[in-house]
This record gives sequence, structure tokens and C-alpha cells, in this order.
Amino acid sequence: MTPAPTRSDKFSFGLWTVGYNGTDPFGGPTRPPMDVVHVVHRLAEIGAYGLTFHDDDLFAFGSSDAERRQQIDRLKGALNDTGLVVPMVTTNLFSAPVFKDGGFTSNDRSVRRFALRKAMRQLDLAAELDARTFVMWGGREGAEYDHGKDIRAAIERYREAVNLLAQYATDNHYEIRFAIEPKPNEPRGDILLPTVGHALAFITTLERPELFGVNPEFGHERMTGLNFVAGIQQALEAGKLFHIDLNGQRGLKFDQDLCFGHADLYQAFALVDLLEHGGPDGTAAYDGPRHFDYKPSRTEDESGVWDSAKANMTNYLLLRERAAAFRADPEVQEAMAAAKVAELRQPTLAAGEDHAQLLADTSAWESFEPAAHFGARGYGFVRLQQLATEHLLGAR
Ligand code: GCO
Ligand code: MN
Ligand code: MN
Repeated sequence: MTPAPTRSDKFSFGLWTVGYNGTDPFGGPTRPPMDVVHVVHRLAEIGAYGLTFHDDDLFAFGSSDAERRQQIDRLKGALNDTGLVVPMVTTNLFSAPVFKDGGFTSNDRSVRRFALRKAMRQLDLAAELDARTFVMWGGREGAEYDHGKDIRAAIERYREAVNLLAQYATDNHYEIRFAIEPKPNEPRGDILLPTVGHALAFITTLERPELFGVNPEFGHERMTGLNFVAGIQQALEAGKLFHIDLNGQRGLKFDQDLCFGHADLYQAFALVDLLEHGGPDGTAAYDGPRHFDYKPSRTEDESGVWDSAKANMTNYLLLRERAAAFRADPEVQEAMAAAKVAELRQPTLAAGEDHAQLLADTSAWESFEPAAHFGARGYGFVRLQQLATEHLLGAR
């Protein structure tokens, strides 16, 4: 039995995901374009709650004001008819040739000013649609060569840009937060703010850091072999997980954008367990949209597109069931206690203890026996991992 998604599961999809026509660097489209009204109706039928989009997904780059307005109104009509919401929007600063050296960090100052205006316009639309998150993925903000790009200056320009956008949102009383999406490479050889950690560090340098968080993508961290779940933990610990892009990635290669759960199932399981149970006392650690940023494979026709959209949600829900069973299993609880998982949450120093008191504590040094850890006092992590594996494989 596969579980059916409901709106309360908060599954959202980019218009560019189900709408992807199969173009890749080696071949043109394999599917016709999909109209936004059709997409909204189909997403509502299969149990999604939200649609997200770049400006250029809804109205082509260079559209007249009237064309833009017509598409916005058609979208609003479909949202009205279905009850679907737009929790997040973003700006395309990577497809048009003008952005071939980036938007906010192009070497060409006039391109940077144009990019700012494009993003401000999309912020106005975010407010109009009551979207609360504005994602910034800087796919073209980067370089292929070391001599052509002054990276320090590029980071300054990036900061200048996002500070301005935050000022603009604040001055217009827009209720919106910004989520920076890291990616190591592709389309640029190297992209600025390549990992969750780089983005978190950058955010601390902004004028309004409280308005900025991250939108980590599963495949983007996995492309460089990083542990996505660990990155999400660090973002959560910093209070910066504003949004999340879920998909699948098989190891170190190009951004595959497979369905969530169709690759790296173990990380997917650990991630769902974290999102659903990583908060205080096993409650959810994140209550925002579960956003799928994937690409239906080029090999599929439209029925395959909707099969893949459903696969994302089904896999999330199945993993959620497995995670709940894992958490509820007394043997798992016992193994976690034996592995001292909760003990790490206890501060190393007692309340108010300082270094002088630590020095005075003979149990911390004089009578402590490090040798007792040789050949004994194992942590039992492997046993715990095996229990997780058995739950993941449905054996428990
Ligand atoms: C990619 C990115 C994009 C962004 C999107 C939203 O690798 O292409 O993941 O899909 O998520 O542009 O900003
Ligand atoms: Mn991606
Ligand atoms: Mn993404």
C-alpha cells in the first residue's frame, strides 16, 4: 500500500520541474511545453499543496507588461480554483544570454543593475501572491577561470545586491525571507557560495542577517560527496533552514535531479527522520514546504512526468512511516541510549563551571582512565546502523 499525500504534508513543486521539456546539453526537447494552468490543476489532483516558479517560467524573458500580467492572472485563477498556494518564488538570473557572466556578480556593472531590477520586480510579485520565501540560486554567479573573476569583489557585489533586496523588501513592508541556495558547480565551473557552510558564513556578514537563511538541495551537497543530512543539521542549529530542495543524486557527477528516494536512499531516510523527528523530544525539526526540485527524465512522456512527481511524494511518505517505526522501536531506543546519543546534548561543563573548577576536578584528569577505552567501551554505532537498515528495508 502506498500512502496518499495530502495538503498538510506541504509538498510543493517548481513549475520548472514538472514543466521540464527534456532539453539537455546534448539534445533538444523531448516533450512539449506544459501550461501553468494545467500544471496547477494536475498538482492539486495528485495531492501537492504548493507551486513555486521563476519569473521566466511563468512569462517568457522579455515579455511585455500586458503578457506578464495575463500570465499572472491566469495563475491566480488556477490557484483560486484549486486552493494551491505559492509558498516560494525565485528569479531567473541564469538563462538569458545577458546573464552569461552572472547577474549580481557579472563583471559588467550595467548587467548587475539590470539583474537587481529583475529581482525587485519578482519580489513585488512574491508579495502580490503572498509567497513568504524568496529563493536565490546563483547558478551563473561564478567563473571558469581564475584570472577573469575577482572573487573577493564578486562576494562584495553579492552582498551589496542581497542587502539592497532586503532593504527594498523592508521598505515595502513585504513579509518575506530570503533563502540562499548553494551549489558547487554547473552551469559555472565554480559557483560562489558552493556549500551550505559557505552560505551560512556569508549570511553573518549581511546588514539584515535575520532575513536570510538557506535553501539547501540534496543533490547539490551530494555532487561533491558532502553529507546532506549533516549540512541540514548545521543549518537547523543556526536557525537558518528556511526552505529545502529535495531530489536524488547518484554520487559525484553532474546535477542529476532524480526523484527523491530514487538515489542515495540511506541519506534520504536519515533526512526524513531528521526533518520529522529532529526537533525537541522527537518532534519535527522543520515545518516548511517539502519542495521537490527534480527533473522528470528526458525519456518520459507526460504520464511519466506525473508518475515521477508522485514518486517524490510517495517516497517521502514511505520514508516518514519507516522513520516513525524506527523511532518507536524499543530496541532502537535502547541502542541509542547505549550509544550515548542523548548524552552529547549535555554541556561538557557544569552550569557556571569555569576552567579553574575543571582543573580542580580530579575525575577529569588525575583519576580518569583513558586506557579503559582500549578494547572496551565501544559505542555500538554499528548495531544502531543495522537497526536503521532493517527498518529502512522493511524488516522491522
Ligand atoms: C539547479 C537549481 C535550481 C534552483 C532554482 C530555484 O541546480 O538548477 O537547483 O533548480 O533550485 O533555480 O532558485
Ligand atoms: Mn539543482
Ligand atoms: Mn534547487
